[in-house]
Amino acid sequence: MGELLIKPKKRKMKGIVLAGGTATRLFPMTATTSKQLLPVYDRQMIFYPLNTLIKAGIKDILMIVAPEHSGQFLNLLGSLLKKHGIHITFEVQSNPRGLAEALTLGENHIGDDNVALILGDNIFENDFAKQIKEFRSGGHVFAKKVVDPERFGVVKFNKANRAIEIVEKPTKWISDYAVTGLYLFDNNCVSIAKKIKPSERGEIEITDVNRAYLKKRQLEVTLFEGEWLDAGTPDSLLEASMIVKEKGISKNFHPILDQAIREFNEELKISSKKRLS
Ligand code: TTP
Repeated sequence: MGELLIKPKKRKMKGIVLAGGTATRLFPMTATTSKQLLPVYDRQMIFYPLNTLIKAGIKDILMIVAPEHSGQFLNLLGSLLKKHGIHITFEVQSNPRGLAEALTLGENHIGDDNVALILGDNIFENDFAKQIKEFRSGGHVFAKKVVDPERFGVVKFNKANRAIEIVEKPTKWISDYAVTGLYLFDNNCVSIAKKIKPSERGEIEITDVNRAYLKKRQLEVTLFEGEWLDAGTPDSLLEASMIVKEKGISKNFHPILDQAIREFNEELKISSKKRLS
């Protein structure tokens, strides 16, 4: 008689976009709107991380938003993708307590599944669809060589190119590789995040979630060379628009998102014509 093989349950990949925060470095622009709703070239910033998740086939996406901007996000995204089978829901983060809070705020949304968490101000040229689709367990982050590693979570490798240490904004140089704002985690991330205590700067750090996976030898780190834009300062916001234009990043969106944005534009045109007549 053949052996009975019990296959581990195949978990789905849910998406979370972190679109809260205070965006102090972009004052006064962010006194009236969310950073993630500011334009990057020809569309709102939020569409870029959303595109990264949609390109990987993710159909269930939670947006974490600040209370004062929830209405604006709802107007833009509330029904944008419904008819295309992509479900976007919203969770208000009352205070920006740190990136890892997305995992506890998103506990019900994640349910029994895995999650791809992306920062709402991060724009990637690469789509990472393959890595996201193939993800099964542990953690998986994407690192890039930068000139100013002290501004980021930084990963150090040993001689065999194995990640051995991750430090948030290191004051002493450990490596030039920044961990960028796309994180793939298995279902254990929720219980890991629940145990994290606020850091010295008072935030629940995503770096601590990454470190927990690293400690268990379950963290995969992929290095990449495509553009990575973190549009959090006036200079990087301007640079993001220029690079998006130059590299045609907004011209290379997933067809569904592209179509939904075009339909939204048409609706806007019709309603503005009605108002004028
Ligand atoms: P940051 O750029 O670290 O923070 P911020 O957006 O508040 O900006 P500043 O440092 O200028 O005050 O945040 C990275 C991304 O994560 C950004 O898209 C906002 C989002 N975020 C949240 O949604 N919740 C949070 O608690 C934090 C800290 C950030």
